[in-house]
Amino acid sequence: AAAPAASHPTAPADAAQGMSKGLTSYGDRGFSLFLRKAFIKGAGYTDAALERPVIGITNTGSSYNPCHGNMPQLLEALKRGVLMEGGLPMDFPTLSIHESFSAPTSMYLRNLMSMDTEELIRAQPMDAIVLIGGCDKTVPAQLMGAASAGLPAIQLITGSMLTGSHRSERVGACTDCRRYWGKFRAEEIDAEEIADVNNQLVASVGTCSVMGTASTMACIAEALGMTVPGGASPPAVTADRMRVAERTGIEAVRMARARLGIDQILTAKAFENAMRVLLAIGGSTNGIVHLTAIAGRMGFDVDLHALDRMGLETPVLLDLKPSGDHYMEDFHDAGGMATLLRELKPLLHLDALTVTGRTLGEELEAAGPGFKQHVVRPFDQPIYPQGGIAVLWGNLAPGGAIIKQSAADPKLMEHEGRAVVFENAEDLALRIDDPALDVHADDILVLKNIGPKGAPGMPEAGYLPIPKKLAKAGVKDMVRISDGRMSGTAFGTIVLHVTPEAAVGGPLAHVRSGDRIRLSVAARAIELLVDDAELARRAAAHPVVEPTAERGYRKLFLQTVTQADQGVDFDFLRATQRRGKTPTA
Ligand code: FES
Ligand code: MG
Repeated sequence: AAAPAASHPTAPADAAQGMSKGLTSYGDRGFSLFLRKAFIKGAGYTDAALERPVIGITNTGSSYNPCHGNMPQLLEALKRGVLMEGGLPMDFPTLSIHESFSAPTSMYLRNLMSMDTEELIRAQPMDAIVLIGGCDKTVPAQLMGAASAGLPAIQLITGSMLTGSHRSERVGACTDCRRYWGKFRAEEIDAEEIADVNNQLVASVGTCSVMGTASTMACIAEALGMTVPGGASPPAVTADRMRVAERTGIEAVRMARARLGIDQILTAKAFENAMRVLLAIGGSTNGIVHLTAIAGRMGFDVDLHALDRMGLETPVLLDLKPSGDHYMEDFHDAGGMATLLRELKPLLHLDALTVTGRTLGEELEAAGPGFKQHVVRPFDQPIYPQGGIAVLWGNLAPGGAIIKQSAADPKLMEHEGRAVVFENAEDLALRIDDPALDVHADDILVLKNIGPKGAPGMPEAGYLPIPKKLAKAGVKDMVRISDGRMSGTAFGTIVLHVTPEAAVGGPLAHVRSGDRIRLSVAARAIELLVDDAELARRAAAHPVVEPTAERGYRKLFLQTVTQADQGVDFDFLRATQRRGKTPTA
């Protein structure tokens, strides 16, 4: 559909500064601009081109990032949109992060990418910025950076990959990656078949096709009002995705002219809408960490108690893997976010402003009535009656922990068991498949030292594998606890983000094999059944030494990274002015 006429509420005729924005100082202003224009003309620009509003574009294409493999096509469509509306598109490279190619973990690099994005927005002349992101950490990094930079900003999502087919069974990354690897570990399929599967899991460029972190952040970006309407769901290789890109270019120029700043969009109401959506889509637990970090940049603190209360009245409506059955392309066919938001309408702040200058409610109205589909459930027939994520408290997690209840085994959600403890990821790798490991199906697996500082970078190692001897005996799920994160594509009864983490001396550091632990999702409790005196004795006998580094980014990271409840952002990147809590429910 063609972009409707601009309706920015505060639009002056043309507030764009173009090439004269943020002049570097080479003597007088006139000379600085003269010099700047001389250099850009080296690339063949005319004066007429340079008089337009400048739209910066973060080009995050990279051979290491197949999730952004449609970057050339996206850039072409986006630039077309910018030119159609009278702007000058200027793309530039920033860091790009892919999940599988980022050691020690992509999360370790998220804050670096956010700093890169923020500083290049600040440094270079532009009136608005288009952020092109898709793979898990890229969208949060970009929203964090843009939030701090403060310019008009709009997010363009790269889009999901297509699903593939293995022997006529539909497959997609990466819930099915885990499922098939589980079968291989349990010796249900052989080496030849697992090699066949490997060719089919990622059938095209684009982001993971289930409701993992990438899809979660795409939906969150749209719910925040940071994308054009319908910007979350079109797959990467489709014409719809390219039309979204063109429309994004058009809106970016309008935002530049109207100076529609990111602070007018990323409000407390927008964050509440995003949290509703996170809960209703059965989104990745990583979404909480990222939303906390983005909100932190705008001066808002996420209230986990309020978020949990919000979850009680927010059903999971989206039937996507890993909580349900479908893939992102099905969600798009079913109308995408408009279909979901229509069901959630009574719970949303419809007056929240979006990048189009219209409110979420107005955009929803413009999207028209819904139609019959089977991917988004009606509000009163949810796939899961409560929000996908529950917050747990107790002596094991004084700062909170979370569980993705919609992906957990209902039989294990009220469970007491004996702890089988692994000191760190290495210890786990060494012993988990040892046939002599003393472990039973009703034990609780505990992994320490995979928190923000522990690993470092809070890797997605919270999805502890079922010990091989139990997997072969048919055990599919066990209660697992750690201070790490879990991929949004994983499932199981898994307690994550235990805060404070073991590496900074949280109670988790002092759990021992044989201790008893009680999990009650109903009571929102995670308790270590060891008395305080004994825990204090253990802490005194084995004091925790926090990890340090001699130099470089790792040193900065270890010295300044915050815990999960502050979004694992660097302390010095959070807004200095605090503006309140979100959600306020
Ligand atoms: Fe990029 Fe999954 S690896 S979205
Ligand atoms: Mg992921």
